[in-house]
Amino acid sequence: MITGIVVAAGSGERLAAGVPKGFVVLAGEPLLVHAARALAPSCDAVVVVVGEGQVAAAGGVLADAGLEAFVCAGGATRADSVAAGLAACPSGTEVVAVHDAARPLAGERLIRRTVAALQAPWDAVAPGLQVVDTLKLVDPAREGRVVRTVDRRSLWAVQTPQVFASATLERAHAGLGGHAVTDDLELVERAGGRVRLVAGERRNLKVTFSEDLAIAAALLAAGRAASGRVEP
Ligand code: C5P
Repeated sequence: MITGIVVAAGSGERLAAGVPKGFVVLAGEPLLVHAARALAPSCDAVVVVVGEGQVAAAGGVLADAGLEAFVCAGGATRADSVAAGLAACPSGTEVVAVHDAARPLAGERLIRRTVAALQAPWDAVAPGLQVVDTLKLVDPAREGRVVRTVDRRSLWAVQTPQVFASATLERAHAGLGGHAVTDDLELVERAGGRVRLVAGERRNLKVTFSEDLAIAAALLAAGRAASGRVEP
């Protein structure tokens, strides 16, 4: 059984939208609804993790969208929220696909491809993209002085969903030991697991700043126009 975990308990301070990021509306629906809908066709169950005090509201917007999901409260860090999501997975869950609510445009095919890539000998799989910008190592304590240029040829930016056997991710979380991590692959890397990236998609962007929301809205509108769907 595959369970999708949408982490939506971040505050979204950089977006400055006045509501928690998961509830920011894109094309008529909250980001967490987009993310849960993206996971649903590839998963047997979906768990949505929101901030303390937002569980009922999240249940409401998911029900309005006709989506069935377990909703639970997250924690202070993304890792805490993933751990809460793992604990809320229905029994029988063997594989988990952890997805950021901040990535509302993950395509069904991308998700299926990523889930299908979790095969021996790999312990974790996620989509990623080779970076396109030139990268500099900068010393912020010295007025942004460039220390050196980093060779970008082997650098990839990682997306979600990140897919694991649930037992692997549970073990990796148990060994976290207070390290600050920004994704779940790192936990498995630290535990010595074999982690692999598959080709991601540019449209699977992470909504972090208000410009990203505008880009996501334009991509969604273009996709709907191409498929003849009417805006909600
Ligand atoms: O903070 P960042 O942009 O890395 O967050 C990525 C995802 O993790 C977002 O979808 C956010 O809602 C989620 N998150 C969470 N709980 C936190 C912090 C972030 O669920 N405490």
